[in-house]
Amino acid sequence: MPIDLPTLPHARDALAPRLSARTLAAQEEIARTLLARINARIAGTALDEVGLDGLLDRAQGALHRDAAELWSHAFYWDALAPLGGGTPSRALAAAIERDYGGSTGLRREFDAAALALEGSGWVWLVRRGHGPLAIVAVRGSGLPAGPEDTPLLACDLWEHAYYLDYQDRRAAYLDAFWKHVDWRVVSSRLR
Ligand SMILES: [Fe+2]
Repeated sequence: MPIDLPTLPHARDALAPRLSARTLAAQEEIARTLLARINARIAGTALDEVGLDGLLDRAQGALHRDAAELWSHAFYWDALAPLGGGTPSRALAAAIERDYGGSTGLRREFDAAALALEGSGWVWLVRRGHGPLAIVAVRGSGLPAGPEDTPLLACDLWEHAYYLDYQDRRAAYLDAFWKHVDWRVVSSRLR
């Protein structure tokens, strides 16, 4: 059974003008390309029935990388809302305060990791097991966390995520990203 295409949780132009409809269309195109490769590889194999989450657990090599990249896109999209959203829950706010001294400190460290990442990749906010929050930069495709860890927020730093709108000004893209982060979604991911 082929895997379905993850869909944007809002209209393509819902994050404009900060993140344009052209940029979101480029994101969808990347997802379609990944999906086509994944479905071609799993057709007729034992991995055909396991779904995207199952591929994260069981696939290897290029198939795992593509599955992780597809999953990451849906995770990234789902936490961006047209008007941004609210504030972190009490539990998440307490963790951010404990580990970063507050939201300003979190953003400072997250942005520093994003700006320092060479080439394409992702920056993640995760919770390490039942312990502290962590910011993890991943070059290329891949997930930030081990099985005990909980991803909370992802920022796509492949050029297609920002080049049409900001060229090589990653800091301007990050500013746009933060304005659209939906803290209700991020908070709901904290277990
Ligand atoms: Fe992307």
